[in-house]
Amino acid sequence: MAKIGIIGAMESEIALLKDRMSDRTETVRAGRTFYAGKLRGADVVLVCCGVGKVNSALTCQMLVDWFGVDTVINIGVAGSGGEAKVRDIVVSTDALYHDLCGITPEDDILLDSYPFVSSFAADPELIRLAVEAGEKRGVNVFTGRIATGDQFVGNKAQKDDIVARTHPMAVEMEGGAIAHACAVNGVPFVIIRSISDNADDGAEMSFEAFEQIAADDAAEIVSSMLEKL
Ligand code: ADE
Repeated sequence: MAKIGIIGAMESEIALLKDRMSDRTETVRAGRTFYAGKLRGADVVLVCCGVGKVNSALTCQMLVDWFGVDTVINIGVAGSGGEAKVRDIVVSTDALYHDLCGITPEDDILLDSYPFVSSFAADPELIRLAVEAGEKRGVNVFTGRIATGDQFVGNKAQKDDIVARTHPMAVEMEGGAIAHACAVNGVPFVIIRSISDNADDGAEMSFEAFEQIAADDAAEIVSSMLEKL
């Protein structure tokens, strides 16, 4: 049976799923709490990794090494990088870093190291199941690229620059690093993000207003996906 790792960066992003788990056990390692148990009949390990690329990558590696997960789903909120509006869902086609220096199409420093790609492709079947679960819930679902960096994108100039360079559907702070950790371990992943803000000058206010509602939307989609995994 599949063992599914579910990662959120903030407590608000995992709260709904944590409450719904049965047979839940807790293990604390490296300052984070891993919740193992059942969710909708599936074997899951749920964890709040903390914000940013390092927190999320190291937590993902721990899920693989210590808990033996064979699938990873990253959930949470994001800023819009494209057509997606607040409370729309973005399911990743791929994820990359928008703040890694030295990246141009001709000279991409990620191409020098394993797995020799500059963007990490999500698993097609997980994408399909996430889209299906979102549509069943009646929300607008977009598929597209996730651009990840160690910064909250909260002004128009910053957003325009990221969009021009990386063409994302959503911007956030963990998905690319989780995708990277999954890629080097050969573990299929998908990122499911609910849009909390437009990553522009109004982002902070919008984020505060929609954080929990949007986080719950993404969590509900995973919950319904689990029946099919
Ligand atoms: N997560 C939610 N909104 C975000 C934003 N605007 N930038 C980065 N991460 C986010």
